[in-house]
Amino acid sequence: MSHPNPHIDKVSILGSETIALGFHIFDYLLRDTLTHFKASTYVVVTDVNLQKLYLDRFQTAFHKISEEVSSASGSALPRLLTYVIPPGEESKSRAVKAEIEDYFLAQGCTRDTLVFAMGGGVIGDLVGFVAATFMRGVPFVQIPTTLLAMVDSSIGGKTAIDTPQAKNPIGAFWQPKRIFIDLSMLETLPEREFVNGMAEVIKTAAIWNQDDFVLLENGAEAIRDAVLKPVRNVEFQGATLDSRTPAQQLLLQVVMASVAVKSYVVTHDERETGMRGLLNFGHSIGHAIEGLVTPKLLHGECVAIGMIKEAEIARHCGFLSQVAVGRLTRCIQAYGLPVTMEDKFVKNYIGNQYCSVDQLMQVLRVDKKNMGSQKRIVMLSGIGQTLEQKPSNISDDIIRKVLAAATVVHPRPINLPPVTLSPPGSKSISNRALVLAALGQGTCRLTGLLHSDDTQVMLTALTKLGAATFEWENNGDTLVVHGNGGKMQIPDSELYLGNAGTAARFLTTVSVLVPPSSIPGQKTILTGNARMKQRPIAPLVEALTANGSELKYMESKGCLPLEVTPFSHGLAGGEIQLAASISSQYVSSILLCAPYATKEPVTLVLTGGQVISQPYIDMTIAMMKSFGVEVEALPNNTYRIPQGSYVNPAEYLVEADASSATYPLAIAAITGTTCTVPNIGSASLQGDAGFAVNVLRPMGCTVVQTATSTTVTGPAIGTLRPLPHIDMTTMTDAFLTASVLAAVSQPSTPGGENVTKISGIANQRVKECNRIAAMMHELGKFGVTTSEFDDGIIVHGHDIASLTPPKDGVKCYDDHRVAMSFSVLANVVPGGTIIREKKCVEKTWPMWWDDLESKLGGRATDVDLGAPSEHHDYEVKSSSSRRPSLGCCAKSNATIVVIGMRGAGKTSMGRFAAKTLGRPFEDVDQYFEKTLGTTIPDFIKEHGWPAFREQEAKMLVELLEKYPTSHVISCGGGIVETASSRDAFKKYIARGGIVLHLVRSIDEIEAYLNKDTTRPMYGESMRDVWARREGWYRECCNFEFVVAGQHLKGIEAEDAKEWALVESNFARYLRVVTGTKKSSLKGPAGSKPTFFLSLTFPDITPVLPQLPELVAGSDVIELRVDLLKVPESFSGSFRDHVAQQVSLLRRHSDLPILYTVRSISQGGQWPDKDINGMVSLLKDGLEWGVEYLDIEIGLPRADIDEVLSRRGQTLIVASFHDCKGSIRWNSDAMEAQYKLAQSISPDVVKLIGTAKTFKDNFECAEFTARHSAKDEDLPLIALNMGAQGQLSRVLNNFLTPVTHELMPVKAAPGQLTANEILIARQTIGL
Ligand SMILES: NC(=O)c1ccc[n+]([C@@H]2O[C@H](COP(=O)([O-])OP(=O)(O)OC[C@H]3O[C@@H](n4cnc5c(N)ncnc54)[C@H](O)[C@@H]3O)[C@@H](O)[C@H]2O)c1
Ligand SMILES: [Zn+2]
Repeated sequence: MSHPNPHIDKVSILGSETIALGFHIFDYLLRDTLTHFKASTYVVVTDVNLQKLYLDRFQTAFHKISEEVSSASGSALPRLLTYVIPPGEESKSRAVKAEIEDYFLAQGCTRDTLVFAMGGGVIGDLVGFVAATFMRGVPFVQIPTTLLAMVDSSIGGKTAIDTPQAKNPIGAFWQPKRIFIDLSMLETLPEREFVNGMAEVIKTAAIWNQDDFVLLENGAEAIRDAVLKPVRNVEFQGATLDSRTPAQQLLLQVVMASVAVKSYVVTHDERETGMRGLLNFGHSIGHAIEGLVTPKLLHGECVAIGMIKEAEIARHCGFLSQVAVGRLTRCIQAYGLPVTMEDKFVKNYIGNQYCSVDQLMQVLRVDKKNMGSQKRIVMLSGIGQTLEQKPSNISDDIIRKVLAAATVVHPRPINLPPVTLSPPGSKSISNRALVLAALGQGTCRLTGLLHSDDTQVMLTALTKLGAATFEWENNGDTLVVHGNGGKMQIPDSELYLGNAGTAARFLTTVSVLVPPSSIPGQKTILTGNARMKQRPIAPLVEALTANGSELKYMESKGCLPLEVTPFSHGLAGGEIQLAASISSQYVSSILLCAPYATKEPVTLVLTGGQVISQPYIDMTIAMMKSFGVEVEALPNNTYRIPQGSYVNPAEYLVEADASSATYPLAIAAITGTTCTVPNIGSASLQGDAGFAVNVLRPMGCTVVQTATSTTVTGPAIGTLRPLPHIDMTTMTDAFLTASVLAAVSQPSTPGGENVTKISGIANQRVKECNRIAAMMHELGKFGVTTSEFDDGIIVHGHDIASLTPPKDGVKCYDDHRVAMSFSVLANVVPGGTIIREKKCVEKTWPMWWDDLESKLGGRATDVDLGAPSEHHDYEVKSSSSRRPSLGCCAKSNATIVVIGMRGAGKTSMGRFAAKTLGRPFEDVDQYFEKTLGTTIPDFIKEHGWPAFREQEAKMLVELLEKYPTSHVISCGGGIVETASSRDAFKKYIARGGIVLHLVRSIDEIEAYLNKDTTRPMYGESMRDVWARREGWYRECCNFEFVVAGQHLKGIEAEDAKEWALVESNFARYLRVVTGTKKSSLKGPAGSKPTFFLSLTFPDITPVLPQLPELVAGSDVIELRVDLLKVPESFSGSFRDHVAQQVSLLRRHSDLPILYTVRSISQGGQWPDKDINGMVSLLKDGLEWGVEYLDIEIGLPRADIDEVLSRRGQTLIVASFHDCKGSIRWNSDAMEAQYKLAQSISPDVVKLIGTAKTFKDNFECAEFTARHSAKDEDLPLIALNMGAQGQLSRVLNNFLTPVTHELMPVKAAPGQLTANEILIARQTIGL
């Protein structure tokens, strides 16, 4: 195909249109240059990467076009020279500049030369500088090929080179004659370089133009795809408007917008005196970071983090609203850029390097923009606008405070006057209020709105639908909604809803109201991100379709994207049936839009038995009433909604998030002052709204509550009363707040009981972290005594004056509620309390620290604790932490009860287990139906869910009594939801039973269940169900099998091979679980030596292909759990990672697994302090059915016993390592270690010394000989570490640890390979 004439867009700079943009524009740019800038010699300078990709094409085009132009004008053919330099910043040097100049001179280049700089910013800066000084300046043309060069470095005429001391100190202003931006060249750019450039694009929109920013916000996916997954249906795609994809057009539009801003600024401030400084937004702090981490992070990546930090400074100063900070953050993240130094992305590149606040301030001190020592930073005052037309003066204190990762909260000054504070709004109410006010008539001022992803998406979508116009007042505190009374139009592009679930559900019905436009065939399209495209919407779509609307699934059935056909009748009305056992959001969606039904009033009939989340439906109805529409509730879950339009109240106060409201109220309680929360009161439907009355009042506070406000006055400091027992079932999230108050309670009579017992909060073990464990741990650091029980926590009150703030601060476990609760306590703790990871409050209250100071009168300062230490923190993170042992070891013939999520494969795996073990199979559900002569759905319809669950528990108990041994029983997924069932499992385990939890990754389960349309869908997301049940499953099982079917989509059907593999692994696992121990592990004397290979990888996944080669010659594989690290790409916890490693190992090798968690003092990496974590992991290893488990005999005996109480059929290796080499083999001390090891009745003893002399090896061999003779059946591994000790490795005969040439590191100093040992043995005649 011949090259089409490309479509060109132009931007003018310094008064002329010299910037041209398009796709595939080589021919165009050459024709333009050769025609307008005649020269005898043209030189293109580029780098090696671009040479490979583009130079041939450029040369061919040059020769074609130069002939064309010369023959047309009758002039001589010009020559083309090319010069290629190595890529990278190092080339921007004096040396390379000189090299290029020498080449030009050697080629006889004169003033009559034009230079093309084809490349990224490096080429542009360097070649531009060459052109500026060669022959006192020759013309040059920029062909920027990176996004950064296109929008930034090629524009403005700044050219420069680096010196060893600094970046860009030598250069000149030299304007290019032309800048040709060929966007198709971005398609070959590495992803990271493209994303890097996006930082500048976002920056420009953020300071300049809200509309451009909105394009970026909504277009992230399309823009990334345009570059990273380009469509190539035709040659030269995008060159002409006909062949240009919408994504390409959008890309062009955003790049051009950025180019235009930079050009405008350059034009008005060419030599950088004022306005040009604005382009440095994000660059003050960005450069400071860059100064410390170059070249590990790229410029744009540092600027991205810098933008957020500088926006946070603006927010802290009160210039910028949280809405804007939130939008900026989300937008930056949407393109794959980091927003903090703690991002996994950043850690990936800079490793453990820590940039301290002092270091950053040091670099900031020399920032070009400063005036003297005064720091100057660009302050945003909104999206698309800045506070001043130049950078603003900012004090060091403020910068430090924002940069610090931790904060110190000091005691609050006493006797502060009453304060009023509106916590962030409730998310459910915010979303409803937005829809109501938009559909309503007139203007409504919404205050207290939550600023979140969801509400942002909702706002943007309602704007695009023309449902209303919005403006912010009071620095983002008030949203003014001018409602259009239900009138809307089809948006000119699709509604992109990200992953905002509520918005998707509500807007589906809203879109049905939209009438046809004058353009025939135009439709409304609702879409979202990949995750959104899996979330269900079918019941709502079905109900609307049945009512005469037309909604089409554009990709997968039952999910977004949806195409909504407009009808002039909008929503028809009449009776609408809706399955309401799934999600109350469907119900609310129809309720909210129902008044706008055109033909007749809506009667909404909720079908499907139990209605889920009635309080949310009540909330919708109550709010509709506030907007003038009264819903009539009829019997049988039926609602009648009158036709009409909402009438907007002048003001609407969005109710606070009730859990958040507990913090300011608790501060009043603990400091003996008064605080009013004006946006939550007795009328609230949120459970946590009961906190003031049910917790604070009995503790001695005065609580005054109206329907919509709450005022709390605390008693004098130090006189809060303990609560002997408080059930917080209805407000579980508030237990953390209650716990810190209980920590400072005092009994009303001296010497009285000072204990608060909080129950009903077991679910808090499986929240962001194990919150009960976290509170116990952190309160303990202050000297507060606590304990836990099944269902809650017990807190002993403590005298305030003697509370001690922890030296290294409160650890927040990345949990916002932990952070905010301890900041409440900190208001009275003497001396100032450090709260680490202060950023975690962003999940629900991003401005908490600002509000604490500016609105609540608290005092906070910054602190830099240095790099966070590398600790696993296993104990609190994991919900399985220190579960008390459930009793005796499992009996090998015990009936195996299989539990787990639906979709994990319980039935298939259960049947398989039954078959392999030759046992009968039972299924609780089938037994239920058989025994009661009904189907489960019928039973539920008739008696409800609670009755079903109780009955299910009974069936379980019956089955276990009937078949205590030699059976396999599979249970329904929800069985653990019932306390009596959980009890039955625990009792069964205590009797020696086997409860096996089948685990499959939630992603896989979702994929599998979504495919299977015959199963009814869950009312809540699978993830939520898992989050709730995970802890219960763990609590109820004593074995766990992880189905590691990486690519396993369907259980039965197409993945037969995968499935066969899973089955054979399961069979092996079952052998460990039910197997009988071998009587002797050792072969007869003189048999060949055996080896185990130590795997020292942080993650074995990448080495699985080499595993067969690695383990060749070994008899056992050791998994060094202490060396594992959760990889970047893995979303689960550390425990999940370990579980996966075990199952992957089992899947890829038949060799038995030796599972080891080696402590630091024993030569490993596991922190010695973290005994709890180690014990948990060891117990997990037993649950995962490993063949061998290593236990360090140095652990406290109680902990060893706890592990051993579960040993089942796993072989135990009792180990001891003398890393310092302080114990001789022939000493009593070594004998004592042997005895100690023996005392735990292990299956193998492993004693490791450190050789100081060669002789130690013989002493070691003698030790072995002595004990082997005595304890024939107890195999002993005995050898020496260190180079001197290698002989002992050769002499040891049983399970010698070995390494392999392919291993990254040896597991121990002096380790040999199996091959080396075998050769050595041969050499010495063994
Ligand atoms: N003059 C200014 O106003 C200004 C402004 C900002 C930055 N800069 C300078 O820009 C430089 C950084 O520029 P950069 O980020 O473009 O880096 P770069 O020039 O080093 O290019 C990045 C990498 O991408 C490769 N590459 C470029 N285009 C490609 C393409 N189309 N396909 C495949 N690979 C491609 C390059 O070979 C290089 O390896 C710095 O030296 C900085 O000082 C100058
Ligand atoms: Zn920059």
